[in-house]
Amino acid sequence: MQEAVVITGASSGIGEAAAYKFASEGFDLLLIGRSSEKLEKVKAQAQSRNINVKIETLAMDLKNFDSVKLQNSLSKISKPTILVNNAGVYTQNKPDDATLDVWKEMFEVNLFGSVKITQALWPIFKANKRGSIVNVASTTAVKPTPNTSAYSASKAAMVNWTICLAQEGGEFNIRANAVCPGIVETPLHGFYNAPASAKDKIHSGITDLQLLKKIGRPEYIAESIFFIGSEQSTWTTGAVHNIDGGINIK
Ligand SMILES: NC(=O)c1ccc[n+]([C@@H]2O[C@H](COP(=O)([O-])OP(=O)(O)OC[C@H]3O[C@@H](n4cnc5c(N)ncnc54)[C@H](OP(=O)(O)O)[C@@H]3O)[C@@H](O)[C@H]2O)c1
Repeated sequence: MQEAVVITGASSGIGEAAAYKFASEGFDLLLIGRSSEKLEKVKAQAQSRNINVKIETLAMDLKNFDSVKLQNSLSKISKPTILVNNAGVYTQNKPDDATLDVWKEMFEVNLFGSVKITQALWPIFKANKRGSIVNVASTTAVKPTPNTSAYSASKAAMVNWTICLAQEGGEFNIRANAVCPGIVETPLHGFYNAPASAKDKIHSGITDLQLLKKIGRPEYIAESIFFIGSEQSTWTTGAVHNIDGGINIK
């Protein structure tokens, strides 16, 4: 059976890398992000890895979720069996400048955006008696760092919600798991666009934080998302996977 995966935040970083991995493995794709221009570039790259899969893009701000647009896009690809809730935003704020607006933004995108799309796909998974949800959380969900309270709390809520989903989905053969990336080099971080001269110093600071002494690459997370989301992990649900170079136990 031809299967499809829905990936949010597919226009950049980890979601982009996941799109390439799933395309290479023969999955149809629905790629969701805000920027249609970036999504089209990812689509072209993914298609070049596998001309036999169907790829749809949907430019949608998850804060203004539109279920009609989603269903329209889904109608153009195979039945979705996997959802990767990856779209996310991140800011660092000191406790006294983490305004309520900052907290709302973190929860609106990182948590509620994922909840909305999961609720839209749940009836499809349930009817097919098959579904797999991979929530991209963060190591900060388990071990927060200073000045990330709103972000870390949104990701902690995501991990907790993942376990509920696993409990609720088991009887319908719907799996739900979380991956918790460590520090991955993507545009999410301010240092991503730092000049090469500054980057060496930043990189060595980050690698010192890891047991494995190397900075995270989006591909490392994409491989884990694929493994956990696909039937390779058919007996895994409610699990929280640190994919982090060992930062969380250092
Ligand atoms: N990089 C890390 O070190 C790290 C560590 C732990 C967890 N994570 C998590 O990994 C996930 C992916 O992050 P990344 O590092 O790959 O960051 P990224 O390169 O900045 O990508 C973020 C993605 O989320 C999308 N997005 C943001 N706000 C959105 C909204 N309101 N509606 C729809 N899409 C939205 C972006 O779309 P546009 O580009 O179209 O705006 C983009 O595709 C996030 O959930 C992040 O919290 C990352």
